[in-house]
Amino acid sequence: MAPAPRGPRLPESRQTPYPRGVKRYRLSVCKGPDCRRGGADKVFAAAREEVQRLNLGGRCEVYRGGCYGLCHLGPNVVVREDLGQPRDLLGGDEFKLLRNEGEAYYWAMSSEKVVRVVSEHVGQERAAADLIGDPEKEADFRVAAPKP
Ligand code: FES
Repeated sequence: MAPAPRGPRLPESRQTPYPRGVKRYRLSVCKGPDCRRGGADKVFAAAREEVQRLNLGGRCEVYRGGCYGLCHLGPNVVVREDLGQPRDLLGGDEFKLLRNEGEAYYWAMSSEKVVRVVSEHVGQERAAADLIGDPEKEADFRVAAPKP
């Protein structure tokens, strides 16, 4: 009989066939009314579908984050490396960018763009650099856009 594993056991949903050293990610799609009007619900659905399609469910948790205060640049997606710490639903990291290593902020997301984020950032562990935004540099495109 094999000895019982030592230490806490990961929940079933967190157990994967991936070898050690393969990164896990948390991908959040903001969900405030402004970004939802701009397509955040479709972005969220597309991210979940792509994670499933690529069989990356064990490596990427897709969820609805809070509002990052960047609605004028949204819909927004934040990808962070999952280091196993519990997610604090009321914690500040759901409402602001932490700007730490391993965090990527993707702005002006669409279904097509988030599919790339899942495929490249999660699937290939390589950020989709051309889709990354910088809120300190990006203009409010709603202001800049010509009025219909
Ligand atoms: S809801 Fe998208 S940043 Fe506010």
